[in-house]
Amino acid sequence: MADTPLVEMRGITKRFGGVTALSEVDLTARSGEVLAIVGDNGAGKSTLIKILTGVYQPTEGSIFIDGKEVSFASHAESIEQGIDAVYQTLALADHLDPAANMFLGNELTKKVFGITILDNKRMRTETERVLMERLGVRLKSLDAATESLSGGQRQAVAIARAVYSEGLRVLVMDEPTAALGPQETARTLKLIETLRDQGLAVILISHSLDDVFQVSDRIHVQRRGRQVGVVKTADSSTQEVLGLIVGAEEAA
Ligand SMILES: Nc1ncnc2c1ncn2[C@@H]1O[C@H](COP(=O)(O)OP(=O)(O)O)[C@@H](O)[C@H]1O
Ligand SMILES: [Mg+2]
Repeated sequence: MADTPLVEMRGITKRFGGVTALSEVDLTARSGEVLAIVGDNGAGKSTLIKILTGVYQPTEGSIFIDGKEVSFASHAESIEQGIDAVYQTLALADHLDPAANMFLGNELTKKVFGITILDNKRMRTETERVLMERLGVRLKSLDAATESLSGGQRQAVAIARAVYSEGLRVLVMDEPTAALGPQETARTLKLIETLRDQGLAVILISHSLDDVFQVSDRIHVQRRGRQVGVVKTADSSTQEVLGLIVGAEEAA
């Protein structure tokens, strides 16, 4: 069916002991769109995407990919289904160079006289290629430790690692611009558009409604563990979304 969403989460409830973090949440995401998730602290944004990326398992509810029900026992299983995430903390090994980070745990090797060794040259050219072809990014230096790169370039390396896996279809980004200045924020938003134009579904969690209104196609609003609205960005306003985040009764 042409209209089947790439991702559909239906009736997701998550309890941690006595705490209900999510209550019957529905979420859909389509190829070639940026879906923003917004809401106050504790609204359940991170928990929702951790369920989508296999970090947590839902207490109730189902996940469908292309209309087919799936369940993820681990993050590795969500990656197998084409769903990966880049977290604010980025999880990069700062003392290693960008290519080593790209291939961390997945190193390319070659055989020399029957002995398997790391293929550093290929890892480096592949890193350069993916950064340029997929993200339009050229790093200042491929030799330097990743910690010497700017925040935006470090993020490009983390994204490149995710998009390097052929089957990637959904990229989740949890507060990608929280630690960045205005220039790097603009670059990151551009990266998000680039990935969307390549047909990925990008799910962007953000506190910045400026960012959200600049880059998203739809906005999913969470309040106190519930989905309280989904709007088309082009038809909505900061005011409307703020009203949903805070709740009409509290805002009145
Ligand atoms: N591992 C956990 N154990 C217990 N409670 C949790 C855990 N993770 C999240 N919560 C609770 O679930 C609710 C939603 O949290 P979270 O998804 O992190 O919200 P957000 O990302 O929107 O700030 C909060 O009340 C939080 O305290
Ligand atoms: Mg969070």
